[in-house]
Amino acid sequence: MYTEKVMDHFMNPRNVGEIEDASGVGEVGNAKCGDIMKMFLKINDDGIIEDVKFKTFGCGSAIASSSMASELIKGKSIQEAMEITNKAVAEALDGLPPIKMHCSVLAEQAIKAALLDYSEKNNIHIEGLEGFDFDEDLH
Ligand code: FES
Repeated sequence: MYTEKVMDHFMNPRNVGEIEDASGVGEVGNAKCGDIMKMFLKINDDGIIEDVKFKTFGCGSAIASSSMASELIKGKSIQEAMEITNKAVAEALDGLPPIKMHCSVLAEQAIKAALLDYSEKNNIHIEGLEGFDFDEDLH
């Protein structure tokens, strides 16, 4: 049912932890399954995401999705990170079962929530963030 990549990122998640002096922190949750994801970003003066850490209290697919999402945005610019959709995360994992697609939504939302926190703290505008629906629910 799960791809090798999903199993790998679930069993050996990359970038688990916290960044104490994070530039932006985002926490999102899914009300129906109760899973919670917290994403920490360290963004340098050039707007590059130098480091990413996450903590996910949730299902295996949510852990694999956050691990993959953290890998996808590490070393990327803010704008590149904005372009990471939940589908891109799921594709990078070689797919998720349809009933588990919502787990990848948490990963996209956690990235955007952390970027929103960063933009608010630094009073900067990030194209595409306003109007983003953090309550989107694909259950
Ligand atoms: Fe809810 Fe996976 S079951 S995030």
